[in-house]
Amino acid sequence: MALDLTPEQKEVGKQNFHRVVGKLGKEGVPDGMSRRQFMRGLIAAGVAAPVTAAAYYGYQNNFRERPVKAGLIGSGDEGGVLVGEHNPAYVEFIAYSDIRPSNQARIFLDERDRNPNSPRRGFNFHYGNDAHRKIRLYDDYRQLLANPEIEMVVIALPLHLHAAATIAALEAGKHVLCEKLMAWNIRQCKDMIRAAERANRLLSIGHQRHYSMLYAQANEVVSSGVLGEVQHIRALWHRNNAVEIEDASGQVRYRDSWNPAIKPEDRDALAGRIRTLGYRSMEELVRWRLYKRTGGGLMAELGSHQLDACSIFLGKQRPIAVTAVGGKHFYPDNREVEDHVYCIYEFPGNNYDRSRGPDATNNDIVIVTYSSINTNNFERYGECIMGSKGTLVVEEEQSAMLYGPAAAQRGTAMTVTTAGGRPALDASDSTGPAARRDADAGQSALGVAAPSRGYREEMEHLAYCIRNRDQGMASDRERLQPRCGGRQAMADAIVALTANAAMNDPHNKRIVFQNDWFDPTKEAVPPVNLQVETV
Ligand SMILES: NC(=O)c1ccc[n+]([C@@H]2O[C@H](COP(=O)([O-])OP(=O)(O)OC[C@H]3O[C@@H](n4cnc5c(N)ncnc54)[C@H](O)[C@@H]3O)[C@@H](O)[C@H]2O)c1
Repeated sequence: MALDLTPEQKEVGKQNFHRVVGKLGKEGVPDGMSRRQFMRGLIAAGVAAPVTAAAYYGYQNNFRERPVKAGLIGSGDEGGVLVGEHNPAYVEFIAYSDIRPSNQARIFLDERDRNPNSPRRGFNFHYGNDAHRKIRLYDDYRQLLANPEIEMVVIALPLHLHAAATIAALEAGKHVLCEKLMAWNIRQCKDMIRAAERANRLLSIGHQRHYSMLYAQANEVVSSGVLGEVQHIRALWHRNNAVEIEDASGQVRYRDSWNPAIKPEDRDALAGRIRTLGYRSMEELVRWRLYKRTGGGLMAELGSHQLDACSIFLGKQRPIAVTAVGGKHFYPDNREVEDHVYCIYEFPGNNYDRSRGPDATNNDIVIVTYSSINTNNFERYGECIMGSKGTLVVEEEQSAMLYGPAAAQRGTAMTVTTAGGRPALDASDSTGPAARRDADAGQSALGVAAPSRGYREEMEHLAYCIRNRDQGMASDRERLQPRCGGRQAMADAIVALTANAAMNDPHNKRIVFQNDWFDPTKEAVPPVNLQVETV
């Protein structure tokens, strides 16, 4: 993401970020944000103790002996991440459902044997080698939903099934954490929100950046104003994981991670009844991301996360309009969805004049460009927020780097000053003992280990909300709701899917976002994925 930064410059940027976060947290620095009081206290006292996400987001395990009993629906790649990351003191899995024999078995296994960095630690890691005796398998997830012991379900199914499974779960009285993208179309998102309201159950959607301390801190830096006027954010997720394969005729073709091999045990068990399982073919089941009926392409899979982050950085604003280009530029023959996408979103700036309408020129807009490509990963992934007085780079959900606005400042140590009444980046006094204490405080606020991506916290928080929602005072209501609930996630889905509509328009037309699309009480939806195709 950070193009040609040297390792030394990266380290300077990280220290700048930690220092400014640490100093912004000190009492007396008007950061203009609702930062948790305890964190101010810790930092002001110079306590370099790690601040847990639980403390930061205001939840705790006050139900120690009564973890929320949960079922997992979809034990594939992401189901494995969520099982690996869950905290059994909050969430106890007692059942799961999948239709592929390979993944029914795989979910128990600790994949660190093969890859030491794998987050997939399996049920066995958490519940012991006899986990298969404690965690019941259901071939049909509707039977899992009939289990009265289960209070909450975690859904990690292919996109086209999110709405049906979520609504069935809510109607069965379960609270739901459903993976992103919320749904295949926006009508389904609205149905999911309404189902949660009717059932009086909590609905959380897995855009995990809402629970990432790194993003919370980056957001604090942006909203403190130290970046000055932000008119441009550049976000991208670039991959190049194709391997060459030769087909029977000797022609070279490519296969990437969205196009995995079909395992013999899955084919043997399911091929004969694949249509009764709701799929047109084994390929569609295993490679669901490649098909428009089952997936949503790069914008649903990758872009939605980063546009979600950008809208948070811009004060949870919705975009005004989007223009996009995309297509099958590299894999013409093995997929329906685009393999390269390039989008331009117009967001309202601080002084945006709404009365002039969405087509006015020279209004105060922030342009967010987003690209996701499949043929080069030189830049990998992240977001770069470019302000008139500073630059913030968030890289791969793992680190943040802060600089002045000019290339010449890439190696300059920075702190923050309030001399002019507002926080501003300042190169003086950035290396003394006080500055070092600020950097330590900022760094320790990220936690001891590598920053958590937020998966563990999104499950912990939902469990906390479930256990405490009946006791909560009115003032607690916000805290007792998922941080990425139905409305927020529907907005993320609208932002992602409308770009698909723009790039599929033969003239790549600019599409203006309509307020009613974002209102679950209204029927209006964006012009994309209107027709659900059944098998
Ligand atoms: N938040 C994130 O960072 C993140 C990352 C990756 C994936 N995801 C999301 O997680 C979801 C799952 O993705 P994945 O990579 O795990 O896909 P996957 O194909 O690896 O897993 C999906 C699983 O669902 C199972 N399944 C399909 N139909 C079923 C049915 N009718 N009943 C029961 N099981 C069924 C499949 O057999 C498979 O095991 C997607 O929505 C994806 O967008 C989120």
